[in-house]
Amino acid sequence: MTTLAHDVFEVEQVKPLIGAAITSNKETLLSGKYAKDIRAMLEDRGVIVFKKVDFTDEEQVAFTKTLGNFVQEMTGDTFKISMDKAINPVAEYTKGAFYWHIDGTMDRVPLFASMLSARRLAPVGGNTAFCNTYAAWDALPDEEKAQIENLRVVHSLVAAQLFVEPEPTSAQFEGWNSLGTNEIPLVWTHMSGHKSLVLGSTAEYIVGMNPIESRRLLIKLREWCTQDQFSLSHAWTIGDAVIWNNTGTMHRAEAYPLDCDRLMVRTKLAGEEAFA
Ligand code: OGA
Ligand code: MN
Repeated sequence: MTTLAHDVFEVEQVKPLIGAAITSNKETLLSGKYAKDIRAMLEDRGVIVFKKVDFTDEEQVAFTKTLGNFVQEMTGDTFKISMDKAINPVAEYTKGAFYWHIDGTMDRVPLFASMLSARRLAPVGGNTAFCNTYAAWDALPDEEKAQIENLRVVHSLVAAQLFVEPEPTSAQFEGWNSLGTNEIPLVWTHMSGHKSLVLGSTAEYIVGMNPIESRRLLIKLREWCTQDQFSLSHAWTIGDAVIWNNTGTMHRAEAYPLDCDRLMVRTKLAGEEAFA
């Protein structure tokens, strides 16, 4: 006798301005029945936690595909986030994830969303934190909005990697710098008309501003966005999957021991609009 899947789909808000937590099961999620609701929730809540859904790699790929245009990682359908070089040969770059960032600030069209699932946990630390950059923009005083609305920011991998390796060799520097720079707006006016702040560790400087003023403003805005009311820190349970709207949030991995075997599996959805 086959057991029919029960349709389970319960949604709770995690915090008033960010996060939804969904209790469901694989069958319901993989059916695509709630794909539209989940897309709408990504816009609205920024981050969605699927509690203990226990996806295999194949199921995570299939579920991600129900939500938009699936994109391959460099390593195939999935990318394994680990500090073990035998599992993740680019572990050195992955350390950049310990600082607030948006995935793909070096691209014209950044990723729409990324999904992580927890396969092995860090013994301490290793939460993933998110902040809502739409809500952070919305809450800025009008006067500050007017002052920063038209600023442009140069992003680079150099800026991000200097957090990880503050005294690089020239060869390391040239490796990072070979990716060049990307000048994009500080305030992104999305096709919906809604605005969000575009910051993160790749933000090198604000165009036309002296270096100290520029650094001061970037720090101040990062501090603003990552305030408690706009952010959440997800403490993982094995089998949780989390998807975030990469165009309206920043995220980072919270510190964990570099020699532990924390393993997260990532899948991605292609961007649908350019920074503007
Ligand atoms: C990422 C990322 C954070 C984490 O996969 O893009 O930033 O907690 N991961 O591993
Ligand atoms: Mn990331």
